[in-house]
Amino acid sequence: MRRLRTQVVIVGAGPSGLLLSHLLSLRGVDSIVVERRSREYVEQRVRAGLLEQGTVDLLRQAGLADRLDREGLVHEGFELRFDGSQHRLPFAELTGWTTCMYGQQEVVKDLIKARAAAGGQLYFGIEDVAPLDVETDAPRVRCTVQGEPMEIIGDFVAGCDGFHGVCRHSVPTGALTTYEHAYPFAWLGILASAAPSTEELIYAVHEGGFALHSMRSPTISRLYLQVGPAEPLADWPDDRIWAELRTRFALHGQEVLNEGPILSRSVTAMRSFVVEPMQYRRLFLAGDAAHIVPPSAAKGLNLAVADVRHLAAAFTAWYADGSRELLDGYSRACLAAVWQGQEFSAFMTSLLHRFPAEDDYAVKLRQARLRDLVTSRAAATAFAEHYVGLARARLAGAIGERQSSPRTRAGTAGGSTHQA
Ligand code: FAD
Ligand code: PHB
Repeated sequence: MRRLRTQVVIVGAGPSGLLLSHLLSLRGVDSIVVERRSREYVEQRVRAGLLEQGTVDLLRQAGLADRLDREGLVHEGFELRFDGSQHRLPFAELTGWTTCMYGQQEVVKDLIKARAAAGGQLYFGIEDVAPLDVETDAPRVRCTVQGEPMEIIGDFVAGCDGFHGVCRHSVPTGALTTYEHAYPFAWLGILASAAPSTEELIYAVHEGGFALHSMRSPTISRLYLQVGPAEPLADWPDDRIWAELRTRFALHGQEVLNEGPILSRSVTAMRSFVVEPMQYRRLFLAGDAAHIVPPSAAKGLNLAVADVRHLAAAFTAWYADGSRELLDGYSRACLAAVWQGQEFSAFMTSLLHRFPAEDDYAVKLRQARLRDLVTSRAAATAFAEHYVGLARARLAGAIGERQSSPRTRAGTAGGSTHQA
């Protein structure tokens, strides 16, 4: 059997695993990343798009933002549509912080390129990944590479393998507590070759269900529709998708929506999940492997980046002087932010969506909450602080360390990869 040795074995080459590997290498800590899918697959997988300013700042500090700074679309507000009227929530004016639209697969491409240029060891197309001996000082990951068994021995294993990964399941029963909630609807998401119909995102609350207009570039729109929880994609031919989008975004009968060829489509279940603690002996979980949120508030990737920031600092401290303090405090430090993100995601989900069994009373309450948001500066500011990630920075006690001046529009501001 082929045996490799490293300091941190990272399972999963999504944003969490790749960013962890990159931050560790900047601080002189060795890692090997093993990924089940091919490089092409992870570079094309369409998911998140909204990066909080704190996430962008971290990517920039880590030398990963050259393309992001050129191509990312910086946003200062969004539009909320309900009751046939439109309202702007100017979050940058309220908080001093912006967001940036830049596809998750672009972040992944930038990370892989940087790891490859730095000689990072990334293994793609790896099967049968199994973390072993994580309760000892010599944890291992066993896997199969092109039909041959391989074992990677490290000091730690980082489980960055997403919600459907194996790492969490390798922990003995009873050692972790899970908290979860499933919503009675899903999001049908499309990527379309059409110029965005507006400069800013539109969150539309409609009696037929929620719709979101987002974008990835000046020529690519990203649109979402609330649909039933188990709706087959086959029930949604292109014409039906566009007709439903037109209905939900319509204002006073106006139907202004740029349309174009649909490049990809998927249905995402809306659920919440947290595992506590995010560590078992020498196995540390980060990102979607430890927690997921419904996509309504765009928190998943941003929370994953926040975990990785803590984890990279904790491993670095341990290798620098054997200090265990940050490692032991990892789970506690992350979970405060995770639950804050859970709460805001649940709030935004209930604010925006029509629930199948709800009565007229619930509908009226939602309308009152929406009106409050667009008429009370205090309510809008509290909302905006969560939306842009300022509330999380405050929670982490980091607020004093950074500037909170608004940014203007976009433009402000290198190994070996193995394919099995
Ligand atoms: P993942 O991206 O799931 O990566 C895990 C990796 O591990 C994958 O590459 C997987 O192939 C690999 N893996 C799994 N099992 C194994 C195994 N056994 N062996 C080896 N490798 C394995 N978040 C935001 O912040 N902003 C948004 O705008 C936003 N929008 C979203 C829209 C949608 C429709 C969806 C679905 C999600 C959205 N999210 C958003 C959430 C965001 O995409 C996730 O939180 C993010 O992908 C988490 O990154 P991760 O690296 O932790 O996990
Ligand atoms: C996205 O562009 O994917 C997106 C944007 C904002 C959200 C959720 C998803 O609230």
